[in-house]
Amino acid sequence: MTQSALIQGGSGGLGRALVNRILQSNQFDQVVVTGRNIQTIDSRDPRIIPIELDLLSDQSVVDASTAVASQIDKLNLVVTTAGILQDESLGLKPEKKLTDLSRSNLQTVFSVNCFGPFLWYAALGRLIRHREPITIATLSARVASIGDNRLGGWHSYRASKTAQNMLTKNLSLELSRTNPHAIVVGLHPGTVDTDLSKPFQAGVDPDRLFTAEQSAGYLWDVLSALTPERSGEVIAWDGQTITP
Ligand SMILES: NC(=O)c1ccc[n+]([C@@H]2O[C@H](COP(=O)([O-])OP(=O)(O)OC[C@H]3O[C@@H](n4cnc5c(N)ncnc54)[C@H](OP(=O)(O)O)[C@@H]3O)[C@@H](O)[C@H]2O)c1
Repeated sequence: MTQSALIQGGSGGLGRALVNRILQSNQFDQVVVTGRNIQTIDSRDPRIIPIELDLLSDQSVVDASTAVASQIDKLNLVVTTAGILQDESLGLKPEKKLTDLSRSNLQTVFSVNCFGPFLWYAALGRLIRHREPITIATLSARVASIGDNRLGGWHSYRASKTAQNMLTKNLSLELSRTNPHAIVVGLHPGTVDTDLSKPFQAGVDPDRLFTAEQSAGYLWDVLSALTPERSGEVIAWDGQTITP
């Protein structure tokens, strides 16, 4: 039976490494890879189907999901990597204190980190709503854990990922009613040397700063070992459950 995977954000730091790790596994016949700019997707492998997708645009979500459905019957693995923490061009920085909050930055961060992935899953419809094994993994972050929050700050990033985790739990419950094989999780990749973390790496122990390839390898091992009993959880790179 044909096995199909879909990686959103396949030209980002972790996204690109995950695409390579998933191809290496030889478990998928078709690997849809999305990017905001289709030119940035490495599509040399014949299994790759490149599709343009900007999660901030409803029209792009409709067009991309239609394009996936025209080439694929059902998906067995969906990984969504979209994440924003800082964007100089938008004047967006992780907040240190409450008075740093702005409506427009909150909206942007929630739109990419939380609304985007789940509007995308809604648009995928029958591609993810079937009765065969499927894993849907959304890149989350340990800083989204309320129980583990000892430092505060980074209000919009933390809160957007915490809200994302709730939608993960809700989707896991919804899919379990019709598909006992479905697994829906959030994943924490560790601290990974990518554009997103670059401005914040100063205090990180070098042994704890993973390359994207290293983290993708750990996440692949986690994904490969998942069972439906863990659906709804947020899971770290080492397989440990993160406290909500
Ligand atoms: N790096 C870390 O230390 C770390 C730690 C914890 C969690 N994470 C999470 O891991 C995920 C991947 O981050 P990264 O480290 O690989 O950072 P990155 O290299 O900056 O990648 C960010 C990703 O977000 C996507 N993105 C941003 N805006 C988007 C939009 N409007 N529509 C669609 N996609 C959009 C980009 O997609 P395009 O390729 O289409 O541009 C890119 O794939 C994020 O969710 C991040 O929060 C990272």
